[in-house]
Amino acid sequence: MRRAFFLTFEGIDGCGKSTQAKRLEQALTERLFPVTHTFEPGGTLLGRKLRTILVHDELNLSLFSEVLLFAADRRQDIDEIINPALERGDIVIGERFADSSVAYQGIAGKVGKERVERLMDIVTSGLVPDLTLLLDIDPRVSLDRKIDLDRIEQRGLFLDVVRHAFLDMATSQPERWVTIDAARPMDDVFSDVLKAVLKRLE
Ligand SMILES: Nc1ncnc2c1ncn2[C@@H]1O[C@H](COP(=O)(O)OP(=O)(O)OP(=O)(O)O)[C@@H](O)[C@H]1O
Ligand SMILES: [Mg+2]
Repeated sequence: MRRAFFLTFEGIDGCGKSTQAKRLEQALTERLFPVTHTFEPGGTLLGRKLRTILVHDELNLSLFSEVLLFAADRRQDIDEIINPALERGDIVIGERFADSSVAYQGIAGKVGKERVERLMDIVTSGLVPDLTLLLDIDPRVSLDRKIDLDRIEQRGLFLDVVRHAFLDMATSQPERWVTIDAARPMDDVFSDVLKAVLKRLE
């Protein structure tokens, strides 16, 4: 059962990408699909190093240099993990990909949607996921899962813009994106995730 397939999870901070990706990896492996699971930033050694840079506020990264660091990580992930796995015929599960840069830095971060899209096209050599699962959730719900209430208000406003950027992207490319209500219990979310993936694989 070898059929290269690239699927990604997208959505705002804490929407459940890692939780669902892990469960999907397990479910597909049980069904004997060869699976490679990657995430960003951090799937490669370069990614792990960049991750520590990207979370250090004192660096005062400009928006555009942040885009470029994410881009460097993404390219390394493609060369080191994603492309070799697709060449083997694996199903590749990614947590975030170019769409996150478009939503976070391009649209919500104001670098410009088209500018980030053009850059991503170069960085990925045109690699686009076969399927993207958008785990849609109100930031007030997802942030509540993760951090203290103080940060929720400032980050929440930004994430609300990101959330709607993702929703617009999903609406404009319905053949690639499936939007899933991620505010429900994990099992309910996962049942929709698995259904969407199996439908596309079969
Ligand atoms: N459906 C759910 N209901 C309640 N809690 C959940 C649900 N899904 C995930 N969680 C919890 O919310 C937190 C964030 O989930 P997770 O790490 O999967 O999100 P993420 O999208 O990967 O976050 P990040 O953007 O930081 O990578 C975790 O503590 C997880 O256990
Ligand atoms: Mg995660």
